[in-house]
Amino acid sequence: MSERTFVMVKPDGVQRGLTGEIVSRFEDRGLKLVGAKFMQIDQELAEEHYGEHEGKPFFDGLVEFITSGPVMAMVWEGDDAIRQVRRMMGETDPADSAPGTIRGDFGLDLGRNVIHGSDHEDPGSNEREIDLFFDEDELVDYEKVD
Ligand code: CMP
Repeated sequence: MSERTFVMVKPDGVQRGLTGEIVSRFEDRGLKLVGAKFMQIDQELAEEHYGEHEGKPFFDGLVEFITSGPVMAMVWEGDDAIRQVRRMMGETDPADSAPGTIRGDFGLDLGRNVIHGSDHEDPGSNEREIDLFFDEDELVDYEKVD
């Protein structure tokens, strides 16, 4: 089933010049880019995006990190896109991520793990995150040629 997922190259990924590599991996896999925004996240958006982690010991550091520099927020579309992107990203902790995955190849530690993607085990998180970062008219429709 075709679905959309929210993906974000985090400040460490942008600063290290990994955005193009990450976009290429999803393009090569046949996913379709339907939205992209190079932006700076403010405190309010960060707290809302990571609301499920509020109260956890790493929450303040996470908000500080994600607001520390620009991110590339994106929406990717395709069959089973949420799970496909999660598999390509690897585990949350780069140390647990297999080589060949984005975090396994580029992640430095639990905080600087390069990329965020909607959680396939949290139904509706993709739509929530897309709505938080994008207006409907910022998502484009076009025919992708394979
Ligand atoms: P992300 O997929 O963006 O979702 C929450 C983020 O919290 C996670 O990636 C990690 O980068 C970050 N994080 C920092 N410390 C921890 C921790 N102890 N456990 C889980 N996530 C953590």
